[in-house]
Amino acid sequence: MYVDLGNALGTRPGLDRDTLDRLDERVADAHGTIAAGREAEEHGYAALNLPETTDADAIRSAVSRFENPAAVLTVGIGGSALGAATVANALDSEVDAYFLDNVDPEWVTRKLDALPLDRTVVNVVSRSGTTAETLSNFLVVRDAMESAGVDWTDRTFVTTGEEGNLRELANKHDLPALDVPDGVPGRFSALSTVGLACAAIQGHDLDALLQGGADAMDSLSGSLYDSPGYAYGAVSYALARRGAGVNAMMPYAESLETFAEWFAQLWAESLGKDGVGQTPARALGATDQHSQLQLYRAGPNDKLVTLVRPREYEDRAIPETDLDGLSYLGGKSLGELLDAEFEATEASLKAAAVPNVRIELERVDERNLGELLYAMEAATVLYGELDNVSTFTQPAVEWGKKAARGLLGGGDFEEADAVQDKETLV
Ligand code: PA5
Repeated sequence: MYVDLGNALGTRPGLDRDTLDRLDERVADAHGTIAAGREAEEHGYAALNLPETTDADAIRSAVSRFENPAAVLTVGIGGSALGAATVANALDSEVDAYFLDNVDPEWVTRKLDALPLDRTVVNVVSRSGTTAETLSNFLVVRDAMESAGVDWTDRTFVTTGEEGNLRELANKHDLPALDVPDGVPGRFSALSTVGLACAAIQGHDLDALLQGGADAMDSLSGSLYDSPGYAYGAVSYALARRGAGVNAMMPYAESLETFAEWFAQLWAESLGKDGVGQTPARALGATDQHSQLQLYRAGPNDKLVTLVRPREYEDRAIPETDLDGLSYLGGKSLGELLDAEFEATEASLKAAAVPNVRIELERVDERNLGELLYAMEAATVLYGELDNVSTFTQPAVEWGKKAARGLLGGGDFEEADAVQDKETLV
């Protein structure tokens, strides 16, 4: 993985090499805190040890009882779904992956109607085992399986913490269960049982995913210049401090579109605290060159644009044509066109002094994906240290969970009272 910071320097927010060199002293301190947290397996920091603590054999063995599935359905939300979805949507497999995170009833019904329930493996994922969306969706799936005459206990496993409703369910029905590792918040769990069980069912190479993570882990040192993850985290922080309050993540590969969604969750939920944080935006190249790029280049001067692309991919030729006006395309390839679009966007942002960072992967495969996911997690943790926020908590998210449960009678929560107190003005 390569991170090119050249276009982040000398741009309108006014970041230069000297500032980065000075920031590097703070990176060294932050790295010391991170290393100590990892060593002590402290909550959150423990996630940065996953490449060496995740037991790929245990995951493979837990799912091996499900023979020849046509599909795997992950029922989970937020960090309990997005890591698995990022891998599933980046890599090809003969086993289709579906995700039920939202509880929009029409959407859930459409998804269930599309699934071959008798050949689907269901993975119910919730660290807390109490998240209302996940548990409700599971009950709906279970009911659909029963109605279709499918023994759901034969086709279901859970990934959860030591306690909670899901653990109880697994014990009661003797379902296979994978443990969510201690000290790993949902959004940092892509390289654990949470993110990798779906990949194992899809036949992906877990060892390569973890090796990619290990390569990124090994690059962490006390300097931003040694580690792509730290480099990205430090520059994003410095730009945010200078007014780049928005970070537009723009991969130039359809296979990485879900990665932008995963990144948005990681960045927002970890760093949005105490009145600070950088708002992630999601875009896709080249599609969003025809929409959002207008704003990124010419709108408010408050953005960092992160451009991501693989260097190698399976290309496809553009056929020759007898139309004179299109002769420049004949003999070229779609990949060449996409690369030209990428370079054009980068140059156009630079020309308008909008900071942008280029991230390149060798190709989209397990190893490179593991490296990318880990590097972005390290970037997030470093940014959080530099900005002095509590990266691994999510009080606003918990507030919403309690309020929703309280409204449905699932407990006595003051958050629910606050919802009922609402005044309406129409
Ligand atoms: O990152 C987080 O902590 C959250 O996004 C959680 O993953 C999400 O709220 C789901 O929680 P749980 O796994 O407990 O169902």
